[in-house]
Amino acid sequence: MKSSSERPLGYDVDAGATRFSNYFHALRELVHLTNGWLALEPSWPRKYALGDHVHDDARALTKIKRRLYELRTPSEYPGSPSPELEQLLDRMAGADSAEAYLDVAYREAKVRLVVAMRTHIENLDPVADEPSLRLLTQVVQRQERHIAELVDAPFDWSSYDIGDYPVRLRREPRKLRILPPLVEPARDDYVEVTERGDPYLSRELYVNGPENHVPIDPEEQRHFFHGLMDAELSAAELMARNSHEHPEMPWDFHVDMARQTWDEVRHAKVHDLLMRDELGCAWGDYPVGFSYFKSIYAHDLLGRLCLFNGTSEQRAMWRHSHRRKRLMELGQERIALVFDYLLADEVPHVHNGVRWGSYLLGGSEQAYRDKVRELRAGLDDTGVPTESPAPA
Ligand SMILES: [Fe+2]
Ligand SMILES: [Fe+2]
Ligand SMILES: [Fe+2]
Repeated sequence: MKSSSERPLGYDVDAGATRFSNYFHALRELVHLTNGWLALEPSWPRKYALGDHVHDDARALTKIKRRLYELRTPSEYPGSPSPELEQLLDRMAGADSAEAYLDVAYREAKVRLVVAMRTHIENLDPVADEPSLRLLTQVVQRQERHIAELVDAPFDWSSYDIGDYPVRLRREPRKLRILPPLVEPARDDYVEVTERGDPYLSRELYVNGPENHVPIDPEEQRHFFHGLMDAELSAAELMARNSHEHPEMPWDFHVDMARQTWDEVRHAKVHDLLMRDELGCAWGDYPVGFSYFKSIYAHDLLGRLCLFNGTSEQRAMWRHSHRRKRLMELGQERIALVFDYLLADEVPHVHNGVRWGSYLLGGSEQAYRDKVRELRAGLDDTGVPTESPAPA
């Protein structure tokens, strides 16, 4: 065995920065395309996994950007991907269905990331480059979990190493493919989609103020939480598409959208469990409808932020707190607790509207508030637009 003074220090800084640049390119494309396909994935468990993973990947990318900054600033890293890496990225971008995308993303791209990061961990100097070791150890474990959750057999564990690919500095960043506009989200084939959604659900459930009705009896609650689960899925799908359709927005916007996407699919999971454990019903027991989703999706990004985050989510805060109070009074504590957490998560979701709506209006929070007021004028008392906007 060599003495420690003879042992090399692992990768030099440029080789390390090159490796992180390759991870950057792969993860950026994974975040972008997962956001695009999430709404078109029909399976509820897979949709949940995509919402969870896209949030992990967005945070991983933030840390990788940070590490690149620490290693080589000022510099041209991450540059642009090599033709070899572009072959893989092009295959991901070229998928023509959610299923085909998942195949390339989870059986190839994520597998390549795991192989490259494991190689990186084995060969780096654990003291001089300890920040990379810590970061990669965390990210690689998450990538392994993602693969295990979505595919039973990755098809490519061969040892070629995308971390080794050269990066092309001083070039235009790679263009991201934007999927065609969504017609409507996909649901499991056992879920009935109708024009009106569940006819059991009445407007009193969705108005604010003294007219609001809190569902108390079991039959009402079954329909109500089923409808709520679908609304959470639609919220996740809307945030994911906001991110996917606007690659020109600052990176922090995408991190905020990824966080909200995960929150919303997690809310859907809470309702799913509540239906099964407490209410004796299940996802798919009642019909769902997309008219509200479509009315918001038809707007441009600013309109969506004003109407969804700035209005729908903002008004839901009052109803969540009202529902929680009523249910507590009636001793339905477990169901009341759900609304406690929904309310807590809603605060940053409303803030996402303020933050990015103001950004789109030259940094003016006042201009955003004015725009929210203007768009609210076209809504009925349940928050549904009375007229559809011209397509964005
Ligand atoms: Fe939610
Ligand atoms: Fe909400
Ligand atoms: Fe929300």
